[in-house]
Amino acid sequence: MKYSTWLKKKDLEYKNNELHYADINLKKVIKKYKTPFYIVNERLIRKRYKKLKSILDTNYKQNEIHYAVKANSNLAVLKILKSEGASADCSSVGEVRSCLKAGIPAESIIYTGNMFTNEDFEFAVKNDILINLDSISQLDRLNHIYEKLDKEKLPLSFRINPEFGAGHHSHTITAGKDIKFGILDDQVIEAYSKAKEYGFTKFGTHIHIGSGILDPNDFESAFNKYIDIVMKLADTLDIQLDFIDFGGGLGIPYHPEEEPLDLELFIKKLISPINKLLERGDFGNPIIKIEPGRFIVGEGSILVTQINTIKDNGYKKFLGVDAGFQTLIRPTMYQSYHHIIQCKQKNGEKEEYDIAGPICESGDILGKDRKIIEPEEGDCLVILDTGAYGFTMASVYNSRPRPAELLLNNGNIYVIREEEKYKDLFKHQKIPKHLK
Ligand code: LLP
Repeated sequence: MKYSTWLKKKDLEYKNNELHYADINLKKVIKKYKTPFYIVNERLIRKRYKKLKSILDTNYKQNEIHYAVKANSNLAVLKILKSEGASADCSSVGEVRSCLKAGIPAESIIYTGNMFTNEDFEFAVKNDILINLDSISQLDRLNHIYEKLDKEKLPLSFRINPEFGAGHHSHTITAGKDIKFGILDDQVIEAYSKAKEYGFTKFGTHIHIGSGILDPNDFESAFNKYIDIVMKLADTLDIQLDFIDFGGGLGIPYHPEEEPLDLELFIKKLISPINKLLERGDFGNPIIKIEPGRFIVGEGSILVTQINTIKDNGYKKFLGVDAGFQTLIRPTMYQSYHHIIQCKQKNGEKEEYDIAGPICESGDILGKDRKIIEPEEGDCLVILDTGAYGFTMASVYNSRPRPAELLLNNGNIYVIREEEKYKDLFKHQKIPKHLK
């Protein structure tokens, strides 16, 4: 793919040597807001969601896309996706609360926690949120809470670990025998029969094998094994499933040389085991759920940062910027590649620099050996594809307040999260009397 086409797909374009995002000149945004800041692109998020939804609809009508809120939980993002008709996948009470606040109804939420506490269960049961359990031992406590609160039992599912996982980094592979998530094949019958004994009458199943997967074949073995488990479950316990959830994990091309996920092929890998199941004729019409986070929002955001220091130690060159791993931790945590470009398009000689943040750790490198043309202190750089696991993983490490998030839509700029102030750092701290 031509480099400019690759950028255009991410809604980035140089016009008169100045970088535009969603047709807005970034120079205009930088003049108004202090770097670093994230910019979310509404039309790109809608576009990605629509693309996935239409391809699913063509292949299997009874489907639901549960957007994985952990990727980007800004209320504006949730409202955008709600207006597209998305459901939600949540991993904590905080995420469930965010969805409810954004107007996503309780019945559209699936809560896949792990290491659930009784407080988590109480909140979910009180608010009629469907719970996807992560361990058989949690079932006793959940049942107790349903009975204590005298609430009607909603459909219940367990996260099944199909023992095949994949992901862009070992931390993001979420299935396999030695991985903390879900229940293994030989525990599935026990889990669901216990749930039946407790009086649950409606069921679903769930897997999520990992995150950042670009090869559809990686999904294949897991999905086939999953459907075998589902069939065994249905046969042994004589239950019909309301839904079968395949989780998320769909990757995006972070590098210009990377091939995007072949969506058609991914859907084929998903649908063919389902067809096998439906061919039996006694399986009803389960809803097929998927839970993409990164695919929907990953490419729909950039992080804008300013160069404050140009440093040549005689051996290596560094560009010091105001974003760091407190703003975007993925490069440090997973050695993830995020493409970095200059706001001003320059003609000249490319030189290699490490793009370094301000955190007092040598791991605070946002990009290694990046080719930059004639940088100057004060210039802006744009870090691409920061919409998923960008702001949601930001921290205040080194006592650096978290940045603003802006939204671009139809030529307008909206602040969807104000930058934190220094006073926010002290908001919840208390000084004991003897130290006053
Ligand atoms: N469903 C469940 C149960 C999950 O645990 C996850 C992600 C998803 C769906 C969405 O996965 P996605 O479609 O976004 O790949 N911080 C890491 C990614 C961790 C993902 C954890 N679970 C990163 O920055 O790459």
